[in-house]
Amino acid sequence: PTLTSSNKPYSRWSEKQSKVLGDIAEEFTLSTSQLEHLTTAFIDQMQAGLAGDQKSTDLAMISTFVSGRPDGHERGSYLALDLGGTNLRVCLITLKGNNDFETNSKAFKVSDHLQEAHISELMDFIAISIKEFITSEHISAKIVEHPSDSDTLELGFTFSFPVTQTAIDAGMLLRWTKGFNCPGAVGNDIVQLLQEALNRNKINVHVAALVNDTVGTLLAHSYKHPNTFIGAIFGTGTNGAYVEDTRGIKSMKNPTTDEMIINIEWGNYDKDKRFLPVTLFDNKLDRESINPGVHVFEKMISGMYLGEITRNILLHLIDHRLLFDGTSSAKLNQHWSFETKYMSQIENDTTATLIPIAQILEQDLGIYLNTQVDREIVKFVCQLVGKRAARLSAMATAAVIRRGLSVEGRLAGHGYPLKLSEGDRAFGSVHESTDSTIDHSLQPIHVGIDGSVFEHYPHFEERMVEGLTELLGSRAKDIVALGIARDGSGVGAALAALIATKNVVQSP
Ligand code: GLC
Repeated sequence: PTLTSSNKPYSRWSEKQSKVLGDIAEEFTLSTSQLEHLTTAFIDQMQAGLAGDQKSTDLAMISTFVSGRPDGHERGSYLALDLGGTNLRVCLITLKGNNDFETNSKAFKVSDHLQEAHISELMDFIAISIKEFITSEHISAKIVEHPSDSDTLELGFTFSFPVTQTAIDAGMLLRWTKGFNCPGAVGNDIVQLLQEALNRNKINVHVAALVNDTVGTLLAHSYKHPNTFIGAIFGTGTNGAYVEDTRGIKSMKNPTTDEMIINIEWGNYDKDKRFLPVTLFDNKLDRESINPGVHVFEKMISGMYLGEITRNILLHLIDHRLLFDGTSSAKLNQHWSFETKYMSQIENDTTATLIPIAQILEQDLGIYLNTQVDREIVKFVCQLVGKRAARLSAMATAAVIRRGLSVEGRLAGHGYPLKLSEGDRAFGSVHESTDSTIDHSLQPIHVGIDGSVFEHYPHFEERMVEGLTELLGSRAKDIVALGIARDGSGVGAALAALIATKNVVQSP
């Protein structure tokens, strides 16, 4: 469809520009009913994953063996390690016992070489970084001040890749994601690999717990807001973890605890593209990525990919002579050259002339031929890609909340003893029709979120809330509290180490 005068953002566009951009806009715009359909399919896939029916789902639904949530009273000092992107962070976390903690950390760059080197080389690098941190920060002395009742230093490891766990301190890597591809890791136990490297390098540290970043984020947010139900990441990659009733985990025989945190690995949702409205631009990106055919959902949402989708669209427009007078630049022609941070800067430009956009294009990408229309089009494309990402993020979050509410009593601990029939809007039809019976003092359900896209991408949160309202009803904003769990991975790893060593010290 052609952009009509009512939906055409800018009147100066030619007919052909309006027509082609109108078609692209239609592909990228997700209606409420499309989101609704995706939500239902997402919940079905969660269910199949929990039932251990891996053939009919792309959601791994990994049991994490983390069966408790902190409430902010826990105390002690722990080492924490956070690996999931281009930085390795080594931290000392001091849990103070009053919903407060202190972080002391140092970042080490994981070079491009290391991201594809043999796993033993990567693990040696991690071990040596830990040693450097312990020495330079005088960690042993600091731990003595806040003892965690252990001779060796206990370490929690946030490793943000899909790992099937068999215990809180044992897990096998399923596949690499987000640009990593180190041979010798898939199918092996990550804790063991790290412990061996520590031993090899004579470092007296014990790996007590291994968690995904989503799980770490959930734990860290719980420390501040005990009503936390979901931990989610919208950063380089995207994923979510939530609290499941062990009775809902069909693959778990004779559970010994009532609840367990599940790592959904939602980045891999619908990898066969049966429901997701993938476009030619998404397919091109997927095909040219390091891991084609998997994590298709993540590739529509997260920071590693949004810029590349946008680049693909811009090149398409250039090739149709609808942008930059048909001329690209050597830089823009390179894969991954259009980083997501440019989209943030472009969406942030609210000036009438959009001159700042021209400056970004010129300085960083070598594009000189931009007119006002060119700049408007670039901004319009960024908005389409950014908005779709936020709405898909809302969809996954809403699906997890709906599942939590649809199982009888599931969120009872949160004060929501609801029972929904299939297809009910979680907050729409139930809460609103029985409004007089709602206890308005209920605490909101907290969702702890970390990641650069959520934190820095303009309007991301606002667009997500809009999507959540469409899927959960008009009271979504009051009932679901999205909150940043900054540094969640580090604090979460420390909390996991604490849970694993069962060294829960309650403050008086
Ligand atoms: C990728 C990883 C997942 C992680 C997410 C966010 O999807 O597979 O484990 O949680 O990125 O970092």
